[in-house]
Amino acid sequence: MKINLHFSPGTVDELYLSDRTVVVIDVLRATSSIITAMGNGAQEVIPVGSIEFAMKISGNLFGGRTLLAGERNTIQIEGFNLGNSPLEFTPETVKDKSVVIYTTNGTKALVKTRFSEQTIVCAFLNLQASAEYLANTGKDIEIICAGRNNQFSLEDNVCAGLLIKLLQSLGSYSISDSASAAILLANNYGADISGMMQNSEHGKLLLENGFAADIDYCSHVSVSQIVPIFISNIIKA
Ligand code: MLT
Repeated sequence: MKINLHFSPGTVDELYLSDRTVVVIDVLRATSSIITAMGNGAQEVIPVGSIEFAMKISGNLFGGRTLLAGERNTIQIEGFNLGNSPLEFTPETVKDKSVVIYTTNGTKALVKTRFSEQTIVCAFLNLQASAEYLANTGKDIEIICAGRNNQFSLEDNVCAGLLIKLLQSLGSYSISDSASAAILLANNYGADISGMMQNSEHGKLLLENGFAADIDYCSHVSVSQIVPIFISNIIKA
């Protein structure tokens, strides 16, 4: 089996992903928020690629139990029920709800994988559960780091490196050069994930905007057993 890694969504064509097993990582904060929402009882999460589409489908679909979540430049979008802080997706708020979510990079990366066979939503929070699920599929794996504006982001690639190391402990995988590079990053930064994120470009922006608690929350490794899976435009656990 083979593992390939895309440092950002900008380097991958959506048709290349057709019928493949894909992983999307946006540690800060979209995939961490989605894992949290599913873990706290959301019925489903619908990631979308534009604010207009989010508003369009949140109306009367899903039996009136829809929450609209999303951010622009990390801040909650006006008129939306929630922003993109994982700490907002509490059981009281999301249980039995359908969450339509738009984020600047993470949900766009997810939408790009809509022709995949299945796309796993991964972050530090569900690293071990994701690795076990993926190893059990016996499939080649394409990992996409959501990054920032189609550029590299450190926290997503460190997370990818740790995921690849776990996969190699669970099965026999050959890995691409990009996957080897991510392992080096994981070896370098894996011992202090919170510190690494505070010093990353996106981490600094979150700190400036008052989201220090989110960085702390998103740095916890393998604390969730939830493996959200994006198939047919909807994420279910
Ligand atoms: C994104 O998709 O760009 C992020 O999740 C932004 C954020 O921190 O809310």
